[in-house]
Amino acid sequence: MKILIVYYSFEGNCKYVAEEISKSVNAEILELKPKADVKAKGILKYIFGGKQAFANEHPELFPLEKNVDSYDFIFLGTPVWKLNYAPALKTFFSENKIKEKKVALFSCGKGGMGKALENMKKELYENEVISEMEFLNPLKQTKYNMETMVETWVDNIMEAF
Ligand SMILES: Cc1cc2nc3c(=O)[nH]c(=O)nc-3n(C[C@H](O)[C@H](O)[C@H](O)COP(=O)(O)O)c2cc1C
Repeated sequence: MKILIVYYSFEGNCKYVAEEISKSVNAEILELKPKADVKAKGILKYIFGGKQAFANEHPELFPLEKNVDSYDFIFLGTPVWKLNYAPALKTFFSENKIKEKKVALFSCGKGGMGKALENMKKELYENEVISEMEFLNPLKQTKYNMETMVETWVDNIMEAF
């Protein structure tokens, strides 16, 4: 089974989770990179990023380095932005028809996880969503906790295959 981990990460949390997943399962990684990502730091990032999220913007991405269609199982990860999945994922969904895959979803957030995963599932209605997980502030957890949490999650998923 060919496995791909697709994620967007603005500040490194989803990247961290994606890399931990790849330690537990033999998978390739695809990072979604907007051509003009939000540059702001501190409170301003919420204003500029939030505007992008509220305006339902679809930021242009650098060309994908993998052919998503050639994988059987896809992990898909997003930071929560304004209670939803991040705009980079909106572009990804609108430009890539994901169907007939097995999918596991994860989000990273600060506690107001909103409908990020629920809304991703709507986009993925032609797929089998096997599992979903919300991670709270991954970069603030101890390395041991994160490693254990991710490893347990991935092992449980993979036991079924
Ligand atoms: C524009 C913006 C909006 C955000 N909105 C939310 C939110 O609605 N709920 C929440 O829990 N965290 C929110 N956050 C925090 C991020 O989801 C959280 O820090 C996440 O772990 C970041 O993942 P990343 O480091 O992979 O980008 C927001 C962050 C940004 C930049």
